Amino acid sequence: MAQEKAFAVTRRDVVVAGAATAAATAVPFRVSAQATPPAAAAAPPAATTTSIGFTVNGAERQLTADNRLTLLDALRESLQLTGTKKGCDHGQCGACTVMVNGRRINSCLSLAVMHEGDEIETIEGIGTPDDLDPMQAAFIAHDGYQCGYCTPGQICSAKAVLDEIKAGIPSHVTADITAEMRPTADEIRERMSGNICRCGAYANILAAITEVSESNA
Ligand code: FES
Ligand code: FES
Repeated sequence: MAQEKAFAVTRRDVVVAGAATAAATAVPFRVSAQATPPAAAAAPPAATTTSIGFTVNGAERQLTADNRLTLLDALRESLQLTGTKKGCDHGQCGACTVMVNGRRINSCLSLAVMHEGDEIETIEGIGTPDDLDPMQAAFIAHDGYQCGYCTPGQICSAKAVLDEIKAGIPSHVTADITAEMRPTADEIRERMSGNICRCGAYANILAAITEVSESNA
């Protein structure tokens, strides 16, 4: 009975022990916090910049850019070519599509410093209101845009899609990669699937691209 009592721990004992432990650990912390004055806030490292030269829509452009600058931001913010749109900034919508050395890319996923010496084509280089590219004219004729926000990327992609088919580059839906490649509706849909139109003008976009492919045939 006496031994049982020796080991009996009451709720009050636990509370007292807990308070003592907290005090024992809190005091050294306070002392050490006072003993060591906070260091002055470190200045953020200066941005590393690089001088880049490339051609945009046939004109040579030179800029000194933060190495983290995307090609999309270089075009829109540094060169004021705002025709290329920023939709998601994550490679998911295709609004930022431009052509680099004849191939389409999502410019939001590419750093400007990677494009030294490259030839870049944006929607501004494809046509103007007074001199429309056939693809632009077809988008208008078929009402292939509604809010129009995705349209520059759609048009850049659409032109690249027809070039890819002409060059015999297969897609995921190409059944026979040895046969002559045709711009079928399935091929166009598949190849345009990286360009999202939130207005859902897909049927009209397909009609516009089909019309241009037939007139090129
Ligand atoms: S902004 Fe580049 S893919 Fe959406
Ligand atoms: S026309 Fe509006 S998102 Fe494509």
